[in-house]
Amino acid sequence: MAKRDKISKKILVIGGDGIGPEVTRWGKRVLEAVAEKYGHEFVFDEGLMGHAAIEATGNPLPDDTLEKARKSDAILFGAIGHPKYDQDPSLKVRPEQGLLRIRKELGLYANLRPIKLFDELLSASSIKPEVLKGADILFFRELTGDVYFGEKKKADDGSWASDLMIYHAYEVERIARKAFEAARLRRKKLCSVDKANVLESSRLWRAVVQRVAADYPDVQCSHMFVDNAAMQLIRDPLQFDVILTANLFGDILTDEASQIAGSMGMLASASVGDGTGLYEPIHGSAPDIAGKGLANPLASILSAALMLQIGFQMQEEADAVLRAVEQVLKKGYRTVDIADKHTENSMIVGTDGMGQQIIQQLAYS
Ligand SMILES: NC(=O)c1ccc[n+]([C@@H]2O[C@H](COP(=O)([O-])OP(=O)(O)OC[C@H]3O[C@@H](n4cnc5c(N)ncnc54)[C@H](O)[C@@H]3O)[C@@H](O)[C@H]2O)c1
Repeated sequence: MAKRDKISKKILVIGGDGIGPEVTRWGKRVLEAVAEKYGHEFVFDEGLMGHAAIEATGNPLPDDTLEKARKSDAILFGAIGHPKYDQDPSLKVRPEQGLLRIRKELGLYANLRPIKLFDELLSASSIKPEVLKGADILFFRELTGDVYFGEKKKADDGSWASDLMIYHAYEVERIARKAFEAARLRRKKLCSVDKANVLESSRLWRAVVQRVAADYPDVQCSHMFVDNAAMQLIRDPLQFDVILTANLFGDILTDEASQIAGSMGMLASASVGDGTGLYEPIHGSAPDIAGKGLANPLASILSAALMLQIGFQMQEEADAVLRAVEQVLKKGYRTVDIADKHTENSMIVGTDGMGQQIIQQLAYS
C-alpha cells in the first residue's frame, strides 16, 4: 500500500447516552488505526450531549460542545436518550433537543443513509436471500424542512390539529445537487420519491428535481410515488441506486429499508450540510442492553468509514474499513443482534470482541 500525503483532521467525539459511548469508542479506535496505517493525523476531542449533558450541565447541548463542534472537521456521534424522558413526555429539557439543535446550528440538511447488505448476513434477514443479494442503496433524506418544521396549530378544545408541510425551492435544490453528485460516483441512477399526485409541496419538489436533473445528463433520473416506493423497496431492492426524498417520507422509508441490511446495529448515517458533518449509527441508546457489553459496534465503525469517505474524501481508507468488516463477518464473528442459527461456525462476541476483531483485521489487510 502506497502511503499518501499526511492529512490532519480534528474530530469531535460525542458518545452520548446508553450504548452510545460503548460503540463510539470502537468507531474512534478504528479511526486511530486508520491514521496509524495510512500515516494521517487525527486529533480527537470529547463533548457531552443528551441526557449525560443534562445531568452534568442542565443543557442537552452545552455551549462548550457546540464550540468544539464548530472547530472540528467532523463529529463522530453515538446516540442520545434515556428511559426517564420516554416515560415522561412532559419533561421540558430533553436529550433529543441537543441533537436537533446541533443539526440546526451546523446546517446539516442532508441525511445520507447507505443500505448495504453484507453477503455474510444474507440469511440473517427476514427477506428472501435471492431478493436481497446485491442490494446497495444510498438514501438522501432532507433533514430541515417538511411537516417537522412547518407551522403547527391545534384547537384549544382539542377538536383539530395541523402540521404544515412546506418546502422552499432552495431546500430541495441543495439536497438534490448533493444526491446527483453522489449518483455520479455510483451506478448513475437516482430515484426521487414524492407524492406529487396529491401534494403541492411534492409538485414543487418534483419540478426542482427535474430542473436540477438537466445539469446531470449522465445520471438516469426517475420519479416514484412514496406508496409505490414503500412496496418496491421490499419487492425488488436491487432496482434502486440513489433514493432522494423529503424529511417525512425519508424517515419512514429508511426505517423500512434498514431491514434490508438485517439489523439496526449495522446501519451508519451521515448528516451533512456545507461544513462540518456528523456521523452516527441510526440506532438509539438501547437502554435494554446498555452496560452489558452486547451492543454491536459495527454501525459506529461504519459511521467512521462514512466520515472517511464523505467528510475527508479518503475512499481508500474507507474501503479498508469496509473490507475489514466484511472479512470479520466472513470469519463468522457475530454480535447477538446479527447471530443467526443458520450461520455455521459463527462465534458470538460482545462489543469489545467485535471491535478488537476489526482492529486486528485492519492491521493485517
Ligand atoms: N439518534 C439517536 O440518538 C436516537 C435514535 C433513535 C432513538 N433514540 C433514543 O434511544 C432510546 C431507545 O430507543 P429505542 O429503543 O426505540 O431504539 P434503539 O435503536 O435504541 O433500540 C431498538 C432495539 O434495537 C436494539 N439495538 C439498537 N442498537 C443496537 C446495537 N448497536 N446492537 C445491538 N442491538 C441494538 C436495542 O437493544 C433495541 O432492542 C430512546 O430514548 C430514543 O429516544 C435516539
